[in-house]
Amino acid sequence: MGKSIDIVLAIETSCDETSVAVLDKGKVRSNIISSQIVHKEYGGVVPELASRAHMKMIVPIMQAALDQADVTLKDIDAVAAVYGPGLVGALLIGLNFGKSLAWSLGIPFIGVNHMEGHIYSVFLEDEKPEYPFICLTVSGGHTDLLLVREPLTYELLGRTRDDAAGEAFDKVAKMLGIGYPGGPVIDKLARDGNPHAIRFPRSYAHAEHYDFSFSGLKTSVLYYLRDKNVLATNGKPVAQPPLLLDICASFQEAVVDTLIGKTRRAAAEKKVRHIAVAGGVSANSRLREAFFDAGSADSFKVYFPRLEYCTDNAAMAAYAGWLRLLKGEISPVTITAVPNLNVA
Ligand code: KG4
Ligand code: ZN
Repeated sequence: MGKSIDIVLAIETSCDETSVAVLDKGKVRSNIISSQIVHKEYGGVVPELASRAHMKMIVPIMQAALDQADVTLKDIDAVAAVYGPGLVGALLIGLNFGKSLAWSLGIPFIGVNHMEGHIYSVFLEDEKPEYPFICLTVSGGHTDLLLVREPLTYELLGRTRDDAAGEAFDKVAKMLGIGYPGGPVIDKLARDGNPHAIRFPRSYAHAEHYDFSFSGLKTSVLYYLRDKNVLATNGKPVAQPPLLLDICASFQEAVVDTLIGKTRRAAAEKKVRHIAVAGGVSANSRLREAFFDAGSADSFKVYFPRLEYCTDNAAMAAYAGWLRLLKGEISPVTITAVPNLNVA
């Protein structure tokens, strides 16, 4: 029998975070994240700059993760790395580094789907959802409503037909000229605004299906800004408080209403009592608050990752990779980066 797989080192380089984590039997020993700031002045991630920063950071970040976990490479039982979805040049840095590391150490390698990592970010906490559960994954590129009947098995209930929820935050922030990424900035400004000041649309709120759409909302915000003459000029904000705060709060409320409406209906119809919310947008303070309120009202249990595990990190990839390794899965050395990838 082979050695049991306890200590997993995982690498995440799918976008603009270089992250390496070490987990021991699913418990986080270290999770080092280096967020690239070079993209800020461009208002979005520049792929080539992301790849270069990953190249520079991968070795020191791995060393920091090993040091903080108080292990050396000899202690590692397996290596995991995200192979998609994401920027292909960015993914290749972490993936090829991980494959080479596993090969040189003579230990198994597992490629991890970034979105599966997000789903399992909630399992990094002591209190874990019970199967079956509904998972809403809301990130910069995805908005998926899934039924997770058993470990690593997903049934797609609905997804966005256009923009992802995080993308909507980023685009609205750009129209307001308040910086990138937009989610955290809007979250902060919205705290002092009135969420009922402007009635932005809630797409598909009454539709039978579980799909989402955020491009109508984005366009509605654009028309509103044009109408009030407060569209950002040369990337600089024109809208000022209190109007700016009300726009942020009202836009955010429309996103939150839409996400919660579909998710609570899915839980009721599928007779599921546990709901997990993951991905960058799950860091949103209003979304978290509103989900816990809905949970108390409908008596379902809600699980969010802590903030460190909401946005991209390697700990979530380590957990998902570990589950796959325990099932006996190992990725072939031929595995390569896949820019577009879904879990279902
Ligand atoms: O999961 P993530 O870190 O990367 C992707 O896989 O895309 O998600 C990034 C997205 C961005 O669109 C960012 O604006 C959004 O998550 N985000 C937030 C918040 N923090 C990050 N959106 C709303 N509120 C936040 N507090
Ligand atoms: Zn992500």
